[in-house]
Amino acid sequence: MSRRVIGIVMNGVTGRMGYRQHLVRSILAIREQGGLPLGDGQVLWPEPILVGRSATKLEELAKRHGLTHWTTSLDEALAHPLAEIYFDAQVTQARESAIKAAIAAGKHIYTEKPTAESLDAALELARLAREAGVCNGAVQDKLFLPGLLKLKRLVDGGFFGRILSVRGEFGYWVFEGDWQDAQRPSWNYRAEDGGGMILDMFPHWRYVLDGIIAPVRSVYAHAATHIPQRVDEQGRAYPATADDAAYGVFELEGGIVAQVNSSWAVRVDRDELVEFQVDGTEGSAVAGLRNCRIQHRGSTPKPVWNPDLPATEQFREQWQQVPDNAEFDNGFKVQWELFLKHVVTGAPYQWDLLEGAKGVQLAELGLRSAREGRRLDVPELSL
Ligand SMILES: NC(=O)c1ccc[n+]([C@@H]2O[C@H](COP(=O)([O-])OP(=O)(O)OC[C@H]3O[C@@H](n4cnc5c(N)ncnc54)[C@H](O)[C@@H]3O)[C@@H](O)[C@H]2O)c1
Repeated sequence: MSRRVIGIVMNGVTGRMGYRQHLVRSILAIREQGGLPLGDGQVLWPEPILVGRSATKLEELAKRHGLTHWTTSLDEALAHPLAEIYFDAQVTQARESAIKAAIAAGKHIYTEKPTAESLDAALELARLAREAGVCNGAVQDKLFLPGLLKLKRLVDGGFFGRILSVRGEFGYWVFEGDWQDAQRPSWNYRAEDGGGMILDMFPHWRYVLDGIIAPVRSVYAHAATHIPQRVDEQGRAYPATADDAAYGVFELEGGIVAQVNSSWAVRVDRDELVEFQVDGTEGSAVAGLRNCRIQHRGSTPKPVWNPDLPATEQFREQWQQVPDNAEFDNGFKVQWELFLKHVVTGAPYQWDLLEGAKGVQLAELGLRSAREGRRLDVPELSL
């Protein structure tokens, strides 16, 4: 098999997502499996060109993984003779200008979400990429999680009958940083640094709802900053200026109601860190990251409300696990492979910067809804 090398400028690989999910679990994992077979006798071999702010960190990281290309200059990285794709996992605020530079340099674009800090900027990026004729994609990793793939399979198979509602619960306790270190970077809790629950999670809820259940048509959000002061990586107290919880109600096409709670100030009493319960006329399902359980209409119990008696049924035991029936790879890697094939073979790819902009649109409308205390329509987007 012949090897086709494709250089990927990877920006933000010293960060949580850039390092673990994108570099190690996706690009290096593709190399460890021998490359990505293209189906025509060729194997695609991704060659990372690391770019970032700290030479020390990049050099150490490159050495750790046997990589040879790294630089602290974005221009230099984009001018690398192997570079065909630009990937961005930087903090959200740094993204727009870097993607613009990459489009101007004629590179294909793949980026973390949110694709920009405002809808105008997100649409401009999508427009620029289209005008430049470069392939483009935004990370929508939750669509490739085993639990949500099983949920999609149920929807496609008609399991639910008419879908009535969705209840989503996302979150866990993020430590304040004083008596135990916080497990998320402090910029997430500062609005001025691009942080906040709505900006972080509403882009995910947009593609999950649009892609699995039905298109989102309106939003009502209540935002809260439950923990007003946190302690940063240097041990300094700072005011938390961004929302750390969002309680959203979304109306979907066909009158489906989706209600999603997202919080970094909640303790977990669930099987997984995110779970979506979908209720339909023919059956219900609860999907998490990995698992999905169902209850069919025919096996639905008939509880009777009587607070004078202890619960007579073990409700959690009345559900049935959906089998895997397939092998599930890391969701980030699956999406990377689809994007790489799209770039190299022209295979279809639907999760582009316009889809990414829809996520930013929902976040922007969510923030406005929370400020104004009212429900807002979500208009169709086009370029
Ligand atoms: N798809 C997902 O599930 C998911 C999950 C978490 C975060 N994200 C997104 O990934 C991006 C990175 O998030 P993270 O949690 O990895 O953050 P992080 O703080 O761990 O990493 C940020 C990266 O950006 C770089 N950077 C560039 N300019 C910077 C600046 N001015 N200040 C600070 N860092 C700067 C850092 O060096 C680092 O490499 C964000 O846009 C976030 O929304 C996506």
